[in-house]
Amino acid sequence: MTEAELYTVHKGVFVPTCLHPAQSLKYYEEFTFRSDDTVIVTYPKSGTTWMQEIVPLIMSGGDPAPVENIPNWDRVPWLEEHRACVLNLEERPSPRMFATHFHYNMMPPSFFEVKPKVIYVMRNPKDVFTSSFHYYGMTSFLVNPGTQTEFLQTFLDGKVMFGSWFDHVKGWLNAEDKERIMYISYEEMIMDLKDSVARMAQFLEKSLDAQVIEKIADRCVFKNMKQNKMSNYSQVPREFMDQTKSEFLRKGIAGDWKNQLTEAEVEHFDAVYKDRMKDVKYKFLWD
Ligand code: A3P
Repeated sequence: MTEAELYTVHKGVFVPTCLHPAQSLKYYEEFTFRSDDTVIVTYPKSGTTWMQEIVPLIMSGGDPAPVENIPNWDRVPWLEEHRACVLNLEERPSPRMFATHFHYNMMPPSFFEVKPKVIYVMRNPKDVFTSSFHYYGMTSFLVNPGTQTEFLQTFLDGKVMFGSWFDHVKGWLNAEDKERIMYISYEEMIMDLKDSVARMAQFLEKSLDAQVIEKIADRCVFKNMKQNKMSNYSQVPREFMDQTKSEFLRKGIAGDWKNQLTEAEVEHFDAVYKDRMKDVKYKFLWD
């Protein structure tokens, strides 16, 4: 199916229509945040599901009940998704946890007034591309990626769901009120998950002892988290996500792009990256 059949353009970016119908986007636009909310913000395929496991475990003080009993999409719902308006989020006790793929300039008015906490997760765009390529190939609500070279151009042009990776990252890095935003990368989490969990707990003002942090990190390493039926998307029907083609929790490593991209594709990617990121001062781990 084509872009016109599958996507809606919302605030300048593509969103899959079946997941984000007009009434959901309106709900989000009118949503009222609380100052003690936590919002996990990611460009798709940057570690959203991982964070939907880690943050609830931090907030529960290591109690696994929420991650064992509630599917990730209800545990830390996407505010732009169709389920948000039926989950009665207004009645949820504080502190609430949400996810969003929105760019900074797409966030609704209440976000800028109330200033909830944000954890922004970034991932090497070459790995985001690699993960996306497999993901687009296994879902029925996204446009077929075509060949790898075709999809590379689509990705670099931002003609994918939630638009350009470059715009997303630059927008959030340039956000105002930075003291309420924690920036972390997928690569840091791969390198030292325990330290990443400890830093997130500190940012979220949850005082956890070392044993609890260790337990959380252990639960959230790829091979363990992959077994969690409440997080591995195994409950999603095959006609929506065909995990026989590619699993949702696919490889969970940093640097898989080296197995995926050709030399020419890397060269092209690097040239576009250099140009699009030339005004960015942030030191990324992957640079
Ligand atoms: P890969 O396709 O490279 O394996 P999102 O949740 O934002 O859609 O991101 C999905 C990516 O995060 C997938 O990457 C997935 O495997 C990876 N991921 C999810 N949980 C993870 C974990 N516990 N450890 C490492 N990577 C994880």
